[in-house]
Amino acid sequence: MPKRVRTAVFPVAGLGTRFLPATKAMPKEMLTVVDRPLIQYAVDEAREAGIEHFVFVTGRNKAVIEDHFDRQFELEATLEARGKTQALDELRKELPSAGRTSFTRQQEPLGLGHAVWCARDIVGDQPFALLLPDMVFRAKPGVLRQMMDAYEETGGNVIGVEECAWEDVSSYGVVVRGEGTDTGFKIDGMVEKPKRDEAPSNLFISGRYILQPEIFTLLAEQTKGAGGEIQLTDAMQVLMQKQAFTGVKYDGKVFDCGSKLGFLTANVVFALDRDDIREGFLKELRNLDLEDHL
Ligand code: G1P
Repeated sequence: MPKRVRTAVFPVAGLGTRFLPATKAMPKEMLTVVDRPLIQYAVDEAREAGIEHFVFVTGRNKAVIEDHFDRQFELEATLEARGKTQALDELRKELPSAGRTSFTRQQEPLGLGHAVWCARDIVGDQPFALLLPDMVFRAKPGVLRQMMDAYEETGGNVIGVEECAWEDVSSYGVVVRGEGTDTGFKIDGMVEKPKRDEAPSNLFISGRYILQPEIFTLLAEQTKGAGGEIQLTDAMQVLMQKQAFTGVKYDGKVFDCGSKLGFLTANVVFALDRDDIREGFLKELRNLDLEDHL
């Protein structure tokens, strides 16, 4: 039985330049899909997968994320006084337990690999999950839960992947698929942001990882890769010579909420998934004279 994964890392230091001016003073991780911030989706997914300790790698302007995962007594007292017990219960349920969150700062935007490395002292010598909060999934069970199932069989490192359009491969890390099934296949290689005609596949790394702590030693070398950044993919490619990497082509679909199109689409799809919103939203959509807009 492989060592249990208890800790998850959430890199939330990015500047969010693709969403300016919305993200000038507000972290992009607090943008909402329907009524939940992006970061909340990732934390909920981690909790569903059995994660107990939530580590946030933050930067300047991100303090509100820390507040979001704290109690808000004034709000709670008001909800209580107004008898809004359901809203109150939900707020309490979503909160990580006291002492089960940690915050550290990346200080400089040197790349995803560097952000992960900044969590090394908090994570220590144990396997950990890594969730990129821009990537929001419509999946049941959650994607990290599905990956944990594979991890319990294989141990080692596990990466969630999904197929993308070939013209999009250059925006992501892409894997070389080896032997095995969709729920667990050997990864034979990976490359960060390949050109379309050099990509080994269109199976892209969609922002969910289970990693062994040896990755930190490789990240410590701080070698720069694609875009002049310290890339996690490059460190994983080296670690692959010593440790197994398993790919999971999970059941579900990702919305890349780091892009405006992905974010807008996620809002529509998640709203239509909600019992309390679906009917009214459909009515509004039908009432729109879309011909005017098309
Ligand atoms: C990062 C990773 C990349 C992955 C992507 C998913 O890239 O480096 O391998 O496919 O996240 O969102 P970034 O989006 O930071 O450029």
